[in-house]
Amino acid sequence: MDRFRIEGGRRLEGTVRISGAKNAALPAMAAALLTAEPVHLTNIPRVRDIITMGKLLAHMNARVSTPDVPPIDLTIEAPAICEAEAPYELVRTMRASILTLGPVLSRLGRARVSLPGGCAIGARPVDLHIKALAQMGAEITTEHGYVNARAPGGRLRGAHIVFEKITVTGTENLLMAAALAEGETRLDNAAREPEVADLVGLLRKMGAQIEGDGTATLRVRGVERLHGATHTIIPDRIETGTFVVAGAITGGDIEITGCAPEHLAAILAKLRETNVVVLEEAPGRLRVRGAKKLLAADVTTEEYPGFATDMQAQFMALMTQARGTSVITETIFENRFLHASEMLRMGADITVEGRRAVVRGPTPLQGTGVIASDLRASASLVLAGLVASGETIVDRVYHIDRGYERIEEKLNALGARVERVR
Ligand code: EPU
Repeated sequence: MDRFRIEGGRRLEGTVRISGAKNAALPAMAAALLTAEPVHLTNIPRVRDIITMGKLLAHMNARVSTPDVPPIDLTIEAPAICEAEAPYELVRTMRASILTLGPVLSRLGRARVSLPGGCAIGARPVDLHIKALAQMGAEITTEHGYVNARAPGGRLRGAHIVFEKITVTGTENLLMAAALAEGETRLDNAAREPEVADLVGLLRKMGAQIEGDGTATLRVRGVERLHGATHTIIPDRIETGTFVVAGAITGGDIEITGCAPEHLAAILAKLRETNVVVLEEAPGRLRVRGAKKLLAADVTTEEYPGFATDMQAQFMALMTQARGTSVITETIFENRFLHASEMLRMGADITVEGRRAVVRGPTPLQGTGVIASDLRASASLVLAGLVASGETIVDRVYHIDRGYERIEEKLNALGARVERVR
């Protein structure tokens, strides 16, 4: 298992380029199952979850090309998908495998996907995906850890679905299912994340009829068949936010290119509240300068366009260095503070009570051995390591490799010292 050895205390300077968004690329890959024609995707990030999704699609008989040089251009061709089963061995390493359920069911009229199970940040059920597909006429049973779904007559029918709770992959699954269904589907209380809008963009290029992207109501008029398309994945807003914090926490001065600042308005507004200087120098380009005096700010995670839960851990790392008390409230996942206890071991002053963490700062952090529990928690520990005195060892960096492309190389190019120890 790889670990990172980080020598802290170095100010970051220079330019970093952002990769494509993992959470937009995964549904885009699943969408390729909806058509027999090739789907070309560009700006795919070279991260582990993409490799897992590629394996899953290949298992379903799709042809997946993966040239070596980043940014990956990927072509997926699924002339005939077979056996339509997403096995547990693949699903357990990546919950986003559930994204194959909607497209396979609507293309084949049947699907079998392993239930994802919980993960470190919460129980993460998929009941809302299942309920909504049942409303479209699917007969669904869950047995022996698998979801078995069948569309009577081979085709799903349009329905009016009101999500009880906003779900990102749930909205994406239903969009894909509805694209080939008979009649019109209306999705209310749909997720408004930029990754959902990116999927709508791709589906539309494939011939889908969808209205309302970017709003909480999506209308899909089902078509008989979809065709191939070429699509460029949007930049990763969470990788962007993570590098903004890296610049800020080290008191650095960095430029971030290839990003979409309009997708992280709430995150940038919050960072500006703490006195971090973030300038939009040109379209797709941010300049970040550390604050002269970093101030504490409270934050509550929310669905888009609110402050993303995927940036909560990184913001907590920053708040350990801010003057004052910061109250961080996590509303999306029930157990997303595992990084706090690792930061405590580094010398942070954090109290966690239920869904609220109180961070008192600034406290000098000291390097030590810490364990990454999930993707974003690992990123926050790397950020803490950048500002800690001495050496920080972050264990289980396979979590970070799931969603950040060569993070150590990108940080080192900015002057950090992060070594991957195998
Ligand atoms: N939920 C249910 N039932 C469902 C679906 C969701 O109760 O059927 C609950 C979840 O347990 C959670 C809340 O609803 O409490 C929101 O979950 P959502 O379904 O929106 O999360 P997701 O689609 O599984 C995606 C991202 C996550 C990100 C969340 C929230 C992908 C592949 N994953 O997950 O990304 O945190 O939305 O924005 O898009 C990450 O990249 O590190 C990551 C965890």
